[in-house]
Amino acid sequence: MNFEFQKLSLSHSMTASVDALVVLWPSQVQPDTQAVEPVSRLVAQAIAHGDFELKAGALLSFYSQPGMAARHVVVACTADNQPGQIRSAMQAAWNALKAGKIKRLGLHVVGEVSVQGLQMALSSLADSSYSYTTTLSKPKARTLKQVLVSATHDRAELRQAVVQAQALVAGVELAKEWANRPANHATPTHLAETAKSIASGRAFKCEVLGPKEVAKLGMGAFMAVAQGAAEPLRFIVMRYNGAAASQAPVVLVGKGITFDTGGISMKPAAEMDEMKYDMGGAASVLGVFKALGELKPSINVVGLIPATENMPDGLAVKPGDVVTSMSGQTIEILNTDAEVRLVLCDALTYAERFKPQAVIDIATLTGACVIALGAVRTGLFSSDDALALQLQRAGEASGDTCWRMPLDDDYAEGLKSRFADVANVAGRAAGSVTAAKFLQRFTKSFAWAHLDIAGTAWRSGAAKGATGRPVGLLLQYLLTAAQATPADKSLGKSKAAVKSGVKGKAKARTAGKA
Ligand code: BES
Ligand code: ZN
Ligand code: MN
Repeated sequence: MNFEFQKLSLSHSMTASVDALVVLWPSQVQPDTQAVEPVSRLVAQAIAHGDFELKAGALLSFYSQPGMAARHVVVACTADNQPGQIRSAMQAAWNALKAGKIKRLGLHVVGEVSVQGLQMALSSLADSSYSYTTTLSKPKARTLKQVLVSATHDRAELRQAVVQAQALVAGVELAKEWANRPANHATPTHLAETAKSIASGRAFKCEVLGPKEVAKLGMGAFMAVAQGAAEPLRFIVMRYNGAAASQAPVVLVGKGITFDTGGISMKPAAEMDEMKYDMGGAASVLGVFKALGELKPSINVVGLIPATENMPDGLAVKPGDVVTSMSGQTIEILNTDAEVRLVLCDALTYAERFKPQAVIDIATLTGACVIALGAVRTGLFSSDDALALQLQRAGEASGDTCWRMPLDDDYAEGLKSRFADVANVAGRAAGSVTAAKFLQRFTKSFAWAHLDIAGTAWRSGAAKGATGRPVGLLLQYLLTAAQATPADKSLGKSKAAVKSGVKGKAKARTAGKA
């Protein structure tokens, strides 16, 4: 989807050539009864007759009025303009419009809007208008291609917000696409091919390791999970170099279990299909790299994706087996369904070689996290208070929120094993925390955070599907970090781009339009 920003009054946005127009209207702005454009007058009339009230959730729609270029206009009240209100107003407006074939949509915001609010409006519009089509024989393709955003005031941040929202949506939609694909259309090999195509630009590198290379590295825990699978494993290493080589990278590690049967400790049949989403962490890393390619921020980022299926088989790893991880620690695999930590622990050890400023793993790790936090907030675990705070802030700013969970050492008691250095599961209590305690053993040499997205990466029920989370949170975190680190002059950025932490293609595009 393509977003474009223009400074326009409401009456000018009425004449812009769009198929439909959404007007986001906060409660405290009263309509001008003398306005020349029809919308304000019609809103005022509807209020006067008691047919419309400027309160959260209220919608007013008009069709083909004189003075209106769009055939359909929907006014949606955004209450106090908080991002959450904007999200619901936008969803409601799109529901009212979606039956029509809209290619180009106008989005006018009345009054003051924050960067956050504008990004929320665009990302929620993209979310509501998205549909998965890849494995349908007669797909109903999305018609919406372009959004013309207009506001009465013109601030550099708003233009920047629109550019960022476009990159964010591209990243979120890539993540959704791969998470939604069934496991036979999203194998470790497919993920590796996708990573290669995303990381093909000048600032990128991508290396894909197969079973032989992984064995040579001594990733015994990762290999144990993969040994029951017919699909060969892949260990994907992506690099985005937007800053000087001397600058320590942020490493993102995404869980890439392309299907989780549970292995020999097999899962029950009901809803097992949802385990195709078990590579949601990997999909979010791919999505973030897609967005980095568009925004080119001055930061170095490494993406690691250990990818395999978790299958039962004659050769599969068995409960009680002891394996040696890349770190040298031995692990007793008491439950083969706790496979993620086995895969992640070797990826975390591999991350050490980058001497990272921070390592963030993203994983659909535990059902226990779904019980604790539901589908609203991602579970955040971190041994580093500064990193935890940055991620919490990024979550609030992007609306892709998380909640910090504890990591007291007492929670690790249950992981003790008589037959190995550590067991891969503890009891049922505090399952998301004990899982994080297991991972923490492999993160001693860097600042580390873990995001448990088991509840937030997809929705169950009728509207089943991937959400693209936490691409928003991660991108916000990286863009903020890019602003905080000293800029790299050698990459030839403009002054404005250095200031905003964003350079290259996307920046140049807005500059041209300004
Ligand atoms: N992929 C699951 C976690 C999961 C469960 C994600 C439900 C989304 C919804 C993970 O590999 C898993 O199976 N975890 C087990 C761990 C248990 C065996 C200690 C779980 O949460 O039940
Ligand atoms: Zn899993
Ligand atoms: Mn599992």
